[in-house]
Amino acid sequence: MQRRGGLAPQQRRHPAEQTRAKRPPPAPLVGPELLLLGLRLRRGSVSRLQAPGGDLRLRAASAWATDVAAEPAAQWAAHCLNGGRELRCVDAAASLGCTWTDSVNQVLRGAVSSAKNRSKGLQPPCPMWCYVVVFLIIWCLGWFLRDKRTIDTVTNKHVFITGCDTGFGNLLARRLDRKGFKVLAGCLTQKGADDLQTGTSPNLKTTLLDVTSTESIKRAVQWVAAEVGEKGLHALVNNAGVANPIGPTEWMTVHDYRKVMEVNTFGTIEVTLNFLPMIKRATGRVVNMASVLGRLSANGGGYCVSKYAVEAFSDSLRRDMYHFGVKVCIIEPGFFKTAVTSLDSIEDALQKLWNQMDPDARRTYGDKYFQNYLRVQRTIMTFICDPDISKVPKCIEHALEARHPRTRYSPGWDAKLVWIPGSYLPAFIIDAVLAFILPKPAHRAR
Ligand SMILES: NC(=O)c1ccc[n+]([C@@H]2O[C@H](COP(=O)([O-])OP(=O)(O)OC[C@H]3O[C@@H](n4cnc5c(N)ncnc54)[C@H](OP(=O)(O)O)[C@@H]3O)[C@@H](O)[C@H]2O)c1
Repeated sequence: MQRRGGLAPQQRRHPAEQTRAKRPPPAPLVGPELLLLGLRLRRGSVSRLQAPGGDLRLRAASAWATDVAAEPAAQWAAHCLNGGRELRCVDAAASLGCTWTDSVNQVLRGAVSSAKNRSKGLQPPCPMWCYVVVFLIIWCLGWFLRDKRTIDTVTNKHVFITGCDTGFGNLLARRLDRKGFKVLAGCLTQKGADDLQTGTSPNLKTTLLDVTSTESIKRAVQWVAAEVGEKGLHALVNNAGVANPIGPTEWMTVHDYRKVMEVNTFGTIEVTLNFLPMIKRATGRVVNMASVLGRLSANGGGYCVSKYAVEAFSDSLRRDMYHFGVKVCIIEPGFFKTAVTSLDSIEDALQKLWNQMDPDARRTYGDKYFQNYLRVQRTIMTFICDPDISKVPKCIEHALEARHPRTRYSPGWDAKLVWIPGSYLPAFIIDAVLAFILPKPAHRAR
């Protein structure tokens, strides 16, 4: 490799350095140039010059002499040297008063190291999280506007609700009546039907319905068909449900499971299947009452099992009805103060289970277990049960009125903060939390 003047590099002041001292410093590298260098580094036109252990200048020179791939990098370096104006590398060398190979080598080395330094602090013009935040804001806004859109009118829309004697069903029937819906309310008892009829408009009509009886369901279907006519049924709300007995799994019999599932699961399924033709005709919707306990099984007994089944049934129904335009919504309330969560009835049912349990099995829990269990349950229920039960009918109203009803609604602070997030946690965490909270049996293996 040829050098000017034949002096050792360390003995002479290189003309390039002299010239450079007079020149203003090269223009600072900006984003696109750095990116360009990055690309070239990746492509290999520069990286080979920086091979570990190799002398950069020598490698630059030999690469320049033998490989045209080095040329873009050299040109880019010359460009930088010229303060941003285009300059061929040969001209750059001439302007520095040295062989252009030398100048190119020097500049390449300087450019590469300065680009490396700068690229450490390199920031894109707008950080990636900005794009993510903007996307999320637009997405939330779009979702919010879509969620707020409602159907044109509710006045000629028929809604059939099961389990309207008390609780959510009763309140929902009254609220929908006030809104102008044509409410068809299924009640388990005549007393429940009569009570509901008082204080509501003639638009609200009642019928007796036991969802565990096929005969009763058939009668209700005929009655509803006569009410809605050719229009069909805008919505079916499967609300009827029972909970007891709830408690440790070992205390149950299979009959206890069947009893609850008859109402909550098979009642929901049979009613839905019978009303489906009417709902399809109106391109209507099905609203199924599940529970947070259908997302996270926190206790034994048929209740959680039945609500998990309601979730599964609703999911498959929604997918199967998609092409018919029938929408299926799932309501997953947290804990609310209604008959279902009445401590008296839950404790009565538990007491029965405890009394009828096999004595050997009971001994493994110990005498204090039952009282401790009741105490813990009472504390949790008192703390967690929300007295404002209107939150649940409000969600159902959205499911009935919205142009785009949601797939799932989770009314209640405990649903939003505890149960639904908890349902996404690994099982061992929930296991540990429940093992910690619930009383420990007297004879335990660990
Ligand atoms: N309260 C909560 O914390 C909570 C939480 C999540 C989910 N849920 C669910 O919400 C729904 C409504 O419960 P709720 O809290 O409002 O309690 P609720 O007041 O006891 O309501 C349940 C209704 O279902 C009726 N019913 C019971 N068995 C029936 C049958 N075989 N056929 C027809 N109707 C029947 C009951 O009638 P009678 O009153 O005449 O027995 C009652 O009107 C249930 O599905 C429940 O599982 C409740």
